[in-house]
Amino acid sequence: MNKKTLNDLKDLNGKIVLTRVDFNVPIKDGVVTDTNRISAAFPTIKYLLENNAKVVLFTHLGRVTSEEDKISKSVKVVAEKLAELSGWDVKFIPNTRGKELEKAISKMTNGSIVMFENTRFEDVIDGELVKRESKNDPELGKYWASLGDVFVNDAFGTAHRAHASNVGIASNINESAIGFLIEKEVKFLHGAVTNPKRPFVALLGGAKVSDKINVIESLAQKADKVIIGTAMCYTFHLAMGRKVGNSLCEPEKVDLAKELLEKYGDKLIIAEDSYCSKEFADVPGEVHDEIPDGMMGMDAGPKTIERVKKELQGAKTVVWNGPFGVSEFENFKHATQAIAETMVSLEGATTIIGGGDSAAAATKLGLADQFTHVSTGGGASMEFLEGKVLPGIDAIEEK
Ligand code: 3PG
Repeated sequence: MNKKTLNDLKDLNGKIVLTRVDFNVPIKDGVVTDTNRISAAFPTIKYLLENNAKVVLFTHLGRVTSEEDKISKSVKVVAEKLAELSGWDVKFIPNTRGKELEKAISKMTNGSIVMFENTRFEDVIDGELVKRESKNDPELGKYWASLGDVFVNDAFGTAHRAHASNVGIASNINESAIGFLIEKEVKFLHGAVTNPKRPFVALLGGAKVSDKINVIESLAQKADKVIIGTAMCYTFHLAMGRKVGNSLCEPEKVDLAKELLEKYGDKLIIAEDSYCSKEFADVPGEVHDEIPDGMMGMDAGPKTIERVKKELQGAKTVVWNGPFGVSEFENFKHATQAIAETMVSLEGATTIIGGGDSAAAATKLGLADQFTHVSTGGGASMEFLEGKVLPGIDAIEEK
């Protein structure tokens, strides 16, 4: 990748820098419950402020499909959290366009921050779902680009989307660059899949084979071992003729699972046993190799955990995406916890979490900061690992 980076931007003094961040953070009862994505953007914002730029920040938050959505999806609370965590003065403008926003930008002093409202508010206009942001409406990208001098994209988590607030602006502005977060994400994820120190082990969990099929294929071609955990393993179990009870699985993907098993042979390791329960609830589980009728697999079992630990010993690169069970339940976090603990104990290994739920699980276990890299991208990191071009990065100027 040869994209312009922050360090290639000369003389930011007094420039209005439109800075796309991904502050699509979980919010419960009006409180931001995970601030990782906010603090991950600090290095870029700090650099821009120290170089006397006027920093205009914007992000999407959730999906906006109706006027009611706008009530719970305002980014005001995120702007407040940013100010609280950083100590910076953040002026929030509750609009995505118009006089108030334009005036606030024109009055900015060097080294100050304005943050505007959820970019996806542009998806619904007067109650109608028009998707101006999500479908990269040409007028919107042009309008936002007209508000600044330079565009910096640091929203790695959104880089797999071609939105007006990333691709649209980049295509309509004179100068653009990626921020430090995208630079770091690309360095680790690209390094892991193009030039990994070996042995290279990939761990893939989560519910659906269909979501991860391309990443399974792509990692199977590059890694020495790919371990498939709960609940995806049950589709593979069906393909192997094993009983799965009421476990989550995708019968329509069984042929695909068979093909993968044939193609990649013993490179693919499928979780063997499971902690099971009769209902989807946080109750003590029973261990079974095959899932009895009336029960469902909720977590990878002790044999699988031992196998994972064994495969990880001596690994020099480990990429993990997707918890190996219903890890938000205390009774079913065995495998996820064991993976996180084993990964952080590996000496001299590059350990990477590919974002999303596994990153949240590692944070909850208090282990996230012991990994080499925890990606802020869920879908974006998966698409990157699949080898896809991410439009939000692709749209940025070459060096
Ligand atoms: C994410 O959380 O994966 C990104 O912020 C993108 O969000 P989206 O899936 O709603 O486009």
